Amino acid sequence: MILSLAGLKKSYGALAVTSNVSLDVTAGAALGIIGPNGAGKSTLFNLITGDVAVDAGTITFMGRQIEHLSPHKRAALGIGRSYQIPLPFDGMTVLENLLVGAQFAGRGRIAQPRSYCLEILQTCGLAAKAGMPAALLTLLERKRLELARALATKPSLLLLDEIAGGLTDPEAAQLVATIKGIHAAGITIIWIEHVLHALIPAISRLVVLSFGKLLADGDPHEVMALPAVREIYLGIEEDLAA
Ligand SMILES: Nc1ncnc2c1ncn2[C@@H]1O[C@H](COP(=O)(O)OP(=O)(O)O)[C@@H](O)[C@H]1O
Ligand SMILES: [Mg+2]
Repeated sequence: MILSLAGLKKSYGALAVTSNVSLDVTAGAALGIIGPNGAGKSTLFNLITGDVAVDAGTITFMGRQIEHLSPHKRAALGIGRSYQIPLPFDGMTVLENLLVGAQFAGRGRIAQPRSYCLEILQTCGLAAKAGMPAALLTLLERKRLELARALATKPSLLLLDEIAGGLTDPEAAQLVATIKGIHAAGITIIWIEHVLHALIPAISRLVVLSFGKLLADGDPHEVMALPAVREIYLGIEEDLAA
Protein backbone atom coordinates (compact mmCIF):
# COMPACT_ATOMS: atom_id res chain seq x y z
CA MET A 1 0.00 0.00 0.00
CA ILE A 2 1.50 3.35 -0.96
CA LEU A 3 -1.15 5.41 0.87
CA SER A 4 -3.55 4.58 3.70
CA LEU A 5 -6.04 7.04 5.10
CA ALA A 6 -7.71 5.90 8.32
CA GLY A 7 -10.56 7.69 10.04
CA LEU A 8 -9.72 11.11 8.57
CA LYS A 9 -11.79 13.99 9.90
CA LYS A 10 -11.78 17.68 9.10
CA SER A 11 -14.40 20.28 9.99
CA TYR A 12 -14.66 23.98 9.28
CA GLY A 13 -16.81 25.23 12.15
CA ALA A 14 -19.96 23.13 12.14
CA LEU A 15 -19.30 21.85 8.60
CA ALA A 16 -17.82 18.33 8.54
CA VAL A 17 -15.92 18.49 5.24
CA THR A 18 -14.15 15.16 5.75
CA SER A 19 -16.18 12.74 7.77
CA ASN A 20 -14.33 9.61 8.89
CA VAL A 21 -12.74 8.83 5.53
CA SER A 22 -10.66 5.65 5.21
CA LEU A 23 -9.02 4.67 1.94
CA ASP A 24 -6.17 2.34 0.91
CA VAL A 25 -4.31 2.93 -2.35
CA THR A 26 -1.93 0.31 -3.77
CA ALA A 27 1.35 1.35 -5.35
CA GLY A 28 0.96 1.81 -9.10
CA ALA A 29 -2.78 2.46 -8.89
CA ALA A 30 -4.63 4.95 -11.07
CA LEU A 31 -7.49 6.07 -8.88
CA GLY A 32 -10.16 8.61 -9.82
CA ILE A 33 -12.22 10.66 -7.38
CA ILE A 34 -15.49 12.30 -8.32
CA GLY A 35 -18.23 14.03 -6.39
CA PRO A 36 -20.31 17.20 -6.49
CA ASN A 37 -18.88 20.64 -5.75
CA GLY A 38 -18.19 21.03 -2.05
CA ALA A 39 -18.02 17.25 -1.42
CA GLY A 40 -14.58 17.66 0.16
CA LYS A 41 -12.42 16.39 -2.71
CA SER A 42 -9.82 19.16 -2.69
CA THR A 43 -9.84 19.10 1.11
CA LEU A 44 -8.90 15.42 0.99
CA PHE A 45 -5.82 16.35 -1.09
CA ASN A 46 -5.05 19.21 1.30
CA LEU A 47 -5.08 16.74 4.18
CA ILE A 48 -2.81 14.30 2.33
CA THR A 49 -0.28 17.01 1.41
CA GLY A 50 -0.48 18.81 4.76
CA ASP A 51 -1.79 22.07 3.32
CA VAL A 52 -4.56 21.55 5.89
CA ALA A 53 -4.12 19.78 9.26
CA VAL A 54 -6.33 16.80 10.11
CA ASP A 55 -8.67 17.03 13.10
CA ALA A 56 -8.42 13.26 13.60
CA GLY A 57 -7.21 10.15 11.82
CA THR A 58 -3.94 8.91 10.36
CA ILE A 59 -2.24 9.14 6.98
CA THR A 60 0.36 6.51 6.16
CA PHE A 61 2.56 7.00 3.11
CA MET A 62 5.00 4.26 2.11
CA GLY A 63 4.79 2.75 5.56
CA ARG A 64 5.38 6.01 7.42
CA GLN A 65 2.81 7.94 9.41
CA ILE A 66 2.86 11.48 7.99
CA GLU A 67 -0.19 13.41 9.19
CA HIS A 68 1.97 15.40 11.63
CA LEU A 69 4.62 16.32 9.00
CA SER A 70 4.88 19.69 7.23
CA PRO A 71 3.85 19.91 3.53
CA HIS A 72 7.52 20.35 2.64
CA LYS A 73 8.50 17.09 4.34
CA ARG A 74 5.63 15.20 2.74
CA ALA A 75 6.71 16.48 -0.69
CA ALA A 76 10.23 15.33 0.12
CA LEU A 77 8.89 11.82 0.79
CA GLY A 78 7.39 11.73 -2.72
CA ILE A 79 3.92 13.27 -2.64
CA GLY A 80 3.40 15.68 -5.53
CA ARG A 81 0.26 17.60 -6.41
CA SER A 82 -1.32 20.02 -8.81
CA TYR A 83 -3.72 22.69 -7.60
CA GLN A 84 -7.25 23.19 -8.88
CA ILE A 85 -6.41 26.84 -9.53
CA PRO A 86 -2.98 26.97 -11.25
CA LEU A 87 -0.71 29.48 -9.55
CA PRO A 88 2.55 29.51 -11.49
CA PHE A 89 5.19 32.16 -10.87
CA ASP A 90 3.92 34.41 -13.67
CA GLY A 91 7.07 36.50 -13.95
CA MET A 92 9.31 33.46 -14.41
CA THR A 93 9.71 31.41 -17.55
CA VAL A 94 8.16 27.97 -17.84
CA LEU A 95 11.56 26.33 -17.29
CA GLU A 96 12.30 28.52 -14.25
CA ASN A 97 8.96 27.51 -12.74
CA LEU A 98 10.05 23.90 -12.97
CA LEU A 99 13.55 24.53 -11.67
CA VAL A 100 12.04 25.99 -8.49
CA GLY A 101 10.04 22.79 -7.94
CA ALA A 102 12.95 20.53 -8.79
CA GLN A 103 15.50 22.31 -6.61
CA PHE A 104 13.54 23.57 -3.62
CA ALA A 105 10.71 21.08 -3.24
CA GLY A 106 10.35 17.35 -3.47
CA ARG A 107 12.82 14.54 -3.18
CA GLY A 108 16.16 16.18 -2.77
CA ARG A 109 18.99 17.18 -5.06
CA ILE A 110 18.87 16.48 -8.74
CA ALA A 111 22.29 16.34 -10.38
CA GLN A 112 21.32 18.02 -13.66
CA PRO A 113 18.23 20.09 -12.83
CA ARG A 114 18.10 21.89 -16.17
CA SER A 115 18.13 18.81 -18.38
CA TYR A 116 15.89 17.03 -15.89
CA CYS A 117 13.31 19.82 -16.15
CA LEU A 118 13.59 20.07 -19.92
CA GLU A 119 12.81 16.36 -20.10
CA ILE A 120 9.66 16.88 -18.00
CA LEU A 121 8.61 19.77 -20.26
CA GLN A 122 9.04 17.37 -23.18
CA THR A 123 6.84 14.78 -21.44
CA CYS A 124 4.20 17.44 -20.78
CA GLY A 125 4.26 18.91 -24.29
CA LEU A 126 5.74 22.22 -23.15
CA ALA A 127 9.28 21.96 -24.48
CA ALA A 128 8.66 24.68 -27.08
CA LYS A 129 7.51 27.07 -24.33
CA ALA A 130 10.48 26.60 -21.98
CA GLY A 131 11.66 30.20 -22.36
CA MET A 132 8.24 31.84 -22.30
CA PRO A 133 7.02 33.76 -19.23
CA ALA A 134 4.33 31.66 -17.51
CA ALA A 135 1.98 34.67 -17.64
CA LEU A 136 1.71 34.28 -21.44
CA LEU A 137 0.55 30.65 -21.43
CA THR A 138 -2.87 29.53 -22.69
CA LEU A 139 -5.22 27.66 -20.34
CA LEU A 140 -4.11 24.25 -21.69
CA GLU A 141 -0.47 25.24 -21.28
CA ARG A 142 -1.10 26.44 -17.72
CA LYS A 143 -2.68 23.07 -16.91
CA ARG A 144 0.32 21.34 -18.46
CA LEU A 145 2.67 23.53 -16.45
CA GLU A 146 0.78 22.65 -13.27
CA LEU A 147 1.32 18.98 -14.11
CA ALA A 148 4.98 19.55 -15.03
CA ARG A 149 5.64 21.46 -11.79
CA ALA A 150 4.20 18.57 -9.79
CA LEU A 151 6.38 16.11 -11.74
CA ALA A 152 9.49 18.21 -11.16
CA THR A 153 9.31 17.30 -7.46
CA LYS A 154 9.85 13.61 -8.47
CA PRO A 155 6.69 12.26 -6.87
CA SER A 156 5.96 8.57 -6.41
CA LEU A 157 2.36 9.62 -5.69
CA LEU A 158 0.86 12.31 -7.91
CA LEU A 159 -2.35 14.06 -6.85
CA LEU A 160 -4.15 15.83 -9.69
CA ASP A 161 -6.99 18.24 -8.89
CA GLU A 162 -9.32 18.93 -11.83
CA ILE A 163 -6.81 19.55 -14.56
CA ALA A 164 -9.13 18.77 -17.52
CA GLY A 165 -11.81 21.39 -16.78
CA GLY A 166 -12.24 24.16 -19.35
CA LEU A 167 -10.30 22.34 -22.06
CA THR A 168 -11.68 21.40 -25.47
CA ASP A 169 -12.22 17.67 -26.04
CA PRO A 170 -9.04 17.26 -28.15
CA GLU A 171 -7.04 19.22 -25.55
CA ALA A 172 -8.41 17.04 -22.74
CA ALA A 173 -7.58 13.92 -24.78
CA GLN A 174 -3.98 15.11 -25.18
CA LEU A 175 -3.71 15.72 -21.47
CA VAL A 176 -5.11 12.26 -20.71
CA ALA A 177 -2.50 10.69 -23.00
CA THR A 178 0.20 12.55 -21.07
CA ILE A 179 -1.19 11.40 -17.72
CA LYS A 180 -1.39 7.80 -18.93
CA GLY A 181 2.26 8.02 -19.95
CA ILE A 182 3.20 9.29 -16.49
CA HIS A 183 1.26 6.44 -14.88
CA ALA A 184 2.88 3.90 -17.21
CA ALA A 185 6.27 5.17 -16.01
CA GLY A 186 5.38 3.87 -12.54
CA ILE A 187 3.89 6.86 -10.72
CA THR A 188 0.78 6.21 -8.61
CA ILE A 189 -1.98 8.64 -9.56
CA ILE A 190 -5.01 9.95 -7.71
CA TRP A 191 -7.02 12.22 -9.97
CA ILE A 192 -9.99 14.36 -8.92
CA GLU A 193 -11.91 15.24 -12.07
CA HIS A 194 -15.32 16.52 -13.14
CA VAL A 195 -14.69 15.71 -16.80
CA LEU A 196 -15.69 12.05 -16.72
CA HIS A 197 -14.93 11.22 -20.35
CA ALA A 198 -11.34 12.30 -19.68
CA LEU A 199 -11.07 10.60 -16.30
CA ILE A 200 -12.66 7.17 -16.83
CA PRO A 201 -10.28 5.88 -19.57
CA ALA A 202 -7.27 6.84 -17.44
CA ILE A 203 -8.21 5.02 -14.23
CA SER A 204 -8.85 1.48 -12.99
CA ARG A 205 -10.60 2.40 -9.74
CA LEU A 206 -13.15 5.09 -8.97
CA VAL A 207 -14.11 6.61 -5.61
CA VAL A 208 -17.16 8.82 -5.15
CA LEU A 209 -17.16 11.42 -2.37
CA SER A 210 -20.37 13.04 -1.21
CA PHE A 211 -20.76 15.34 1.79
CA GLY A 212 -17.33 14.36 3.05
CA LYS A 213 -18.02 10.61 2.97
CA LEU A 214 -17.08 7.77 0.62
CA LEU A 215 -20.23 6.89 -1.27
CA ALA A 216 -18.78 4.27 -3.60
CA ASP A 217 -15.44 2.66 -4.46
CA GLY A 218 -14.60 0.10 -7.14
CA ASP A 219 -14.42 -0.61 -10.86
CA PRO A 220 -15.17 2.69 -12.65
CA HIS A 221 -17.93 1.32 -14.86
CA GLU A 222 -19.59 -0.59 -12.02
CA VAL A 223 -19.40 2.48 -9.76
CA MET A 224 -20.89 4.72 -12.46
CA ALA A 225 -23.80 2.27 -12.83
CA LEU A 226 -24.84 2.50 -9.15
CA PRO A 227 -28.16 4.35 -8.71
CA ALA A 228 -26.79 6.57 -5.92
CA VAL A 229 -23.89 7.54 -8.18
CA ARG A 230 -26.12 8.13 -11.20
CA GLU A 231 -27.88 10.72 -9.07
CA ILE A 232 -24.58 12.44 -8.19
CA TYR A 233 -23.40 12.15 -11.77
CA LEU A 234 -26.49 14.07 -12.89
CA GLY A 235 -25.57 16.65 -10.25
CA ILE A 236 -22.13 16.96 -11.81
CA GLU A 237 -23.60 17.35 -15.28
CA GLU A 238 -25.74 20.19 -13.91
CA ASP A 239 -22.65 21.79 -12.36
CA LEU A 240 -20.93 21.64 -15.72
CA ALA A 241 -23.89 23.14 -17.51
CA ALA A 242 -24.12 25.99 -14.95
N1 LIG B 1 -10.44 26.92 4.37
C1 LIG B 1 -11.77 26.73 4.43
N2 LIG B 1 -12.54 27.37 5.31
C2 LIG B 1 -13.87 27.15 5.38
N3 LIG B 1 -14.54 26.29 4.59
C3 LIG B 1 -13.83 25.62 3.67
C4 LIG B 1 -12.42 25.79 3.53
N4 LIG B 1 -11.98 24.98 2.54
C5 LIG B 1 -13.07 24.34 2.08
N5 LIG B 1 -14.17 24.72 2.74
C6 LIG B 1 -15.53 24.22 2.53
O1 LIG B 1 -15.46 22.81 2.59
C7 LIG B 1 -16.31 22.22 1.63
C8 LIG B 1 -15.51 21.28 0.75
O2 LIG B 1 -14.61 22.05 -0.04
P1 LIG B 1 -13.66 21.34 -1.09
O3 LIG B 1 -12.85 20.33 -0.42
O4 LIG B 1 -12.93 22.44 -1.80
O5 LIG B 1 -14.72 20.65 -2.05
P2 LIG B 1 -14.57 20.06 -3.52
O6 LIG B 1 -13.14 20.11 -3.92
O7 LIG B 1 -15.14 18.67 -3.44
O8 LIG B 1 -15.43 20.95 -4.38
C9 LIG B 1 -16.97 23.37 0.89
O9 LIG B 1 -18.24 23.60 1.46
C10 LIG B 1 -16.03 24.52 1.13
O10 LIG B 1 -16.74 25.74 1.09
MG1 LIG C 1 -12.14 21.03 -5.44
